[in-house]
Amino acid sequence: MTSMLAATALPLYDALAPIYDAWQAADDATPFALLVHDKLERELGRAARAPVRSFLDLGCGTGALPLALARAHADWRLAGVDASAGMLAHAARRPGAERVAWLRASLARPLPLRVPFDAAGAFYDTLNHLPDAGALQAALAAAAGVLRPGGLFAFDLTNALGFERWWRGRNQWHGDGWRLTVATRYDPPARTGSADVMLERDGVVSRFSLVERWFTDSEVRQALAAAGLRVHSAEPWSPFAIDAPGKTWWISTKST
Ligand SMILES: C[S@@+](CC[C@H](N)C(=O)[O-])C[C@H]1O[C@@H](n2cnc3c(N)ncnc32)[C@H](O)[C@@H]1O
Repeated sequence: MTSMLAATALPLYDALAPIYDAWQAADDATPFALLVHDKLERELGRAARAPVRSFLDLGCGTGALPLALARAHADWRLAGVDASAGMLAHAARRPGAERVAWLRASLARPLPLRVPFDAAGAFYDTLNHLPDAGALQAALAAAAGVLRPGGLFAFDLTNALGFERWWRGRNQWHGDGWRLTVATRYDPPARTGSADVMLERDGVVSRFSLVERWFTDSEVRQALAAAGLRVHSAEPWSPFAIDAPGKTWWISTKST
């Protein structure tokens, strides 16, 4: 089921799950999913031809985005998909979780969801975890498969600039009973970033590695076209206000 999520990434996210929300809010940061929520609320309405009343979050992690959408839209049908059982277990325990259907699945296969969604998304590097352009195409096809005709698929991808800026060096965060240390290296010819992650929690030290990659614009456009998704917009995005537009924010539409 998780063949397209690198074997090392799954234990990483399972282990991160209990501290993920605290890490996202460390040093008074706004959790990434809430930056996405703000942007989505502004942009979905502009891009959609028909009202959006259902949304599926692919790579939902601990569920912050679908839970924020549930708070904002009492009448929306919401679902979250992730490969990590640990992230989903945490999501399912959060206040409001009963409003969201949680599903453990890989993005690289057709998703077993029968009722189509008006919109879906994959955020915070979820698609950068995919190993190659073929896997990207499979994930986009899976997304298209759960959209109604004309439905929207929005996603962010860290781009070459983002890897240059954010995938070199060492960062550390800490909170109540935990410390997270991430050392990153960027390999431009390979178009990959590698991270050595050390999690210290309640006196136990665990180590993980993670590889992410960036895709060229033409790889993304080809994968979208092959999946039956038309590009609505592709814009540079600087999610961290003081930094560079190291992400590209894509909105695509399922062909009718
Ligand atoms: C960086 S986290 C982002 C979580 C959430 N979207 C957020 O904004 O906080 C990436 C998530 O994508 C999930 N993921 C990555 N590749 C996946 C795949 N191929 N299938 C399903 N889930 C995947 C991971 O388990 C993890 O929860």
